[in-house]
Amino acid sequence: MKGQYSYLITSILLPFLFLLWASHISASNSTIDSFVQCLQSHSNQSHPISNAIFTPSNSSFLNVLYSYIRDSRFNTSSTPKPLAIVTALDATHVQATVICAKKSGIQIRIRSGGHDFEGLSYVSSVPFVILDMFNLRSIDIDMQSETAWIDGGATIGELYYKIAQKSRVHAFPAGVCFTLGAGGHFSGGGYGNMLREYGLSIDHIIDAHVVDANGRLLNRETMGEDLFWAIRGGGAASFCVIISWKIKLVRVPEKVTVFNVPKTLEQGATDVVLQWQDIASTIDRKLFIRVQPQTIQTFPRLGLQAQDCTEMPWIKTTLFWNGDSMGTPLEVLLDRTPTPSHSYGKHKSDYVKKPIPRAGLETIWKKMIELQADVFLMQWNPYGGKMSEISSNATAFPHRAGNLFKMQYLALWQDDSIEATYRNIQATRELHATFTPYVSSNPREAFLNYRDIDIGTNENGNLVFASDLYKDNVKRLLQVKAKVDPSNFFRYEQSIPLFPRAMKQ
Ligand SMILES: Cc1cc2nc3c(=O)[nH]c(=O)nc-3n(C[C@H](O)[C@H](O)[C@H](O)COP(=O)(O)OP(=O)(O)OC[C@H]3O[C@@H](n4cnc5c(N)ncnc54)[C@H](O)[C@@H]3O)c2cc1C
Ligand SMILES: *[C@@H]1O[C@H](CO)[C@@H](O)[C@H](O)[C@H]1NC(C)=O
Ligand SMILES: *[C@@H]1O[C@H](CO)[C@@H](O)[C@H](O)[C@H]1NC(C)=O
Ligand SMILES: *[C@@H]1O[C@H](CO)[C@@H](O)[C@H](O)[C@H]1NC(C)=O
Ligand SMILES: *[C@@H]1O[C@H](CO)[C@@H](O)[C@H](O)[C@H]1NC(C)=O
Ligand SMILES: *[C@@H]1O[C@H](CO)[C@@H](O)[C@H](O)[C@H]1NC(C)=O
Repeated sequence: MKGQYSYLITSILLPFLFLLWASHISASNSTIDSFVQCLQSHSNQSHPISNAIFTPSNSSFLNVLYSYIRDSRFNTSSTPKPLAIVTALDATHVQATVICAKKSGIQIRIRSGGHDFEGLSYVSSVPFVILDMFNLRSIDIDMQSETAWIDGGATIGELYYKIAQKSRVHAFPAGVCFTLGAGGHFSGGGYGNMLREYGLSIDHIIDAHVVDANGRLLNRETMGEDLFWAIRGGGAASFCVIISWKIKLVRVPEKVTVFNVPKTLEQGATDVVLQWQDIASTIDRKLFIRVQPQTIQTFPRLGLQAQDCTEMPWIKTTLFWNGDSMGTPLEVLLDRTPTPSHSYGKHKSDYVKKPIPRAGLETIWKKMIELQADVFLMQWNPYGGKMSEISSNATAFPHRAGNLFKMQYLALWQDDSIEATYRNIQATRELHATFTPYVSSNPREAFLNYRDIDIGTNENGNLVFASDLYKDNVKRLLQVKAKVDPSNFFRYEQSIPLFPRAMKQ
C-alpha cells in the first residue's frame, strides 16, 4: 500500500433480507402582512428584499419550500407549512428577518442544506417562517493564507470542488454527502473520513460572521469567544444565524488510497469486526476504516486484494465515498438535487467505548435480520488519533478521547404508507435498544448532526437530550444562551433552553 492516506470500507453483508407528528397551523393573514411590511421597511434601497419574500400567495411558494426538504416524512399534506419563506439574498435580509420575526412574535426556522434528519429546519408546530439560506453560497479561497470564507448556504460539494480547482494537495475535513449545507453541518461538528488525522470541521474554523438575536452582524471579535465556542459544535440555531465561516484548509498528499472489502457473515464478517474493534482507533491516524453493517447483499466479493486498493487524488476519493463511479465528472459535486428525491429515513447514533464481544455482535446481527426494516444500514466510524488529542471542552462538541467508534443507525424506505413509517421507525428504536449494553451510558452520548427527536426535547426544562449531546459542556452552553439570547428568540424542539438559574451558580 503506497498511499499515505488509506481509507477502507468493510461492508459486512448480512444475508438478510413506527410515529408521525403533524399539526395544523392557522395564523391570520394580518400577522403575515405586518411581517412583510416590516421586512420592507427594514430593507435598504441598495438591497431590495421584495425578491426574497415568498408568502403562500406567491405562485412559487411551494416550490421554494420543497427545494430543500430532504426527507419525505416531513413533506406530507399535513406537515405544517411556514407563513412565509425569506430566501435571503444578503446579510441585510437576514438581519431584517430576525428583527421583524421578533417584533411580530413569529418563530423562525433557519435552513441551509435542509438535511436535518427530523426536519427541524423547516417544520414547526407553532406559526413560523423559514429563513432560507440557499442563495448565500459564495466560497472565497485564499491560497496564500490557505484559508477560505464559505457562506452558510454553500454545500460541502461546492467547497470540495472549489478547493480542487485551486490545489491538488489541499482539502477540508467535512462530511461525505455533497449536498450538506455548511450552516448546519459545520455547527453540529461536521465529520468525515479525515476525522482521525484532522478532527472535525469545527477544529478548522477560525472566524465567522453571524446575525444575533438583536439583528446585529458580528464577527469573532465582536461576538466574543463564548459565542464563538458555542457555535462550533453546539448547534448555531440556538444562538444566531451563521452567514459565513472562515476555515483553514488542510494539506493532503497528491495520492490517496481507498479500499472496499465486502464480507458476508459466512465469509467471517464477525471475525473481521472483532479485529477491527481492536485496531481501528489505534492504528496510524492516516487510516480511516469504516465498517458498514447492512441488510442488503450487493457485492458478492471476497477478502482484501491488491486491486481493491486504488490510488487517486483526494478530490476523487470524495466520489468514491459518495458511491459514484470513478469516471463521474467532478461537476457532480455541484449538483444540489439529491437522489432519490423521494425517500424516508430514521437515524440514531451511539458511542462505543469498549469492544463489543463476539456474543454481542451475534445478538446484534440476529436482531438486524429479525427486525422488519426495509433497509437497515449502520456506519461504524473509528475515533482515536486527532480526536483523542483535542480537549472535550475546546469546542462545544464533547465526544473526544475515550471512544473506540461512533455509530450511525439508518433505516431507509420509499413506501408512502403510514405502516411503513411506523415499522421502520420502530425497528430503528429496537435496534438501538439492543445496543444498550454495549454503548456509552449516563449519559448515553449522541451526535448532534444525527438529529434524533427520541432523545428528548427541551419541554418543561428537560435537559436529558442536552446532556447526551453536549455532556459537561451543557453548563457553558446554558450560560452563553442566557447571555446572547435572553428572550429565547432562537428556539426549536432541541435548542438550548433559557435557564436563569444556571446563570447564577
Ligand atoms: C445523506 C446525509 C449524509 C450525511 N453525512 C454526514 C457526514 O458525513 N458527517 C456529518 O457530520 N454529518 C452528516 N450528515 C448529517 C448532517 O451533518 C446534518 O444533517 C446537518 O445538520 C446538515 O446541515 P444542513 O445545513 O444541510 O441542514 P439544515 O436542515 O438546513 O440545518 C440543520 C440544523 O442546523 C440549523 N442551521 C442550518 N443553517 C443554519 C445557519 N445558517 N445558521 C444557524 N443555524 C443553521 C438548522 O436550523 C437545523 O437546526 C448527513 C446527513 C445526510 C442527510
Ligand atoms: C392577505 O390576504 C389578501 C386578501 O386575500 C391578499 O391580497 C394578500 O396578498 C395576503 N397577504 C399575504 C402576505 O399573503
Ligand atoms: C444601505 O446599503 C449601502 C450599501 O451596502 C450602505 O452603504 C448604506 O449605509 C446602507 N444604508 C442603510 C440605511 O443601512
Ligand atoms: C410575494 O408576494 C409578496 C406580497 O404578498 C410580495 O411583497 C413579494 O414581492 C412577492 N415575492 C416575490 C418573490 O415575487
Ligand atoms: C416533496 O413533495 C413535492 C411535491 O409533491 C415533490 O416534488 C418533492 O420531490 C418531494 N420531496 C421529497 C423529499 O419527498
Ligand atoms: C477546559 O477544562 C479545563 C479543565 O477543567 C480548564 O482548565 C480549561 O480552562 C477549560 N477550557 C475551556 C476552553 O473552557
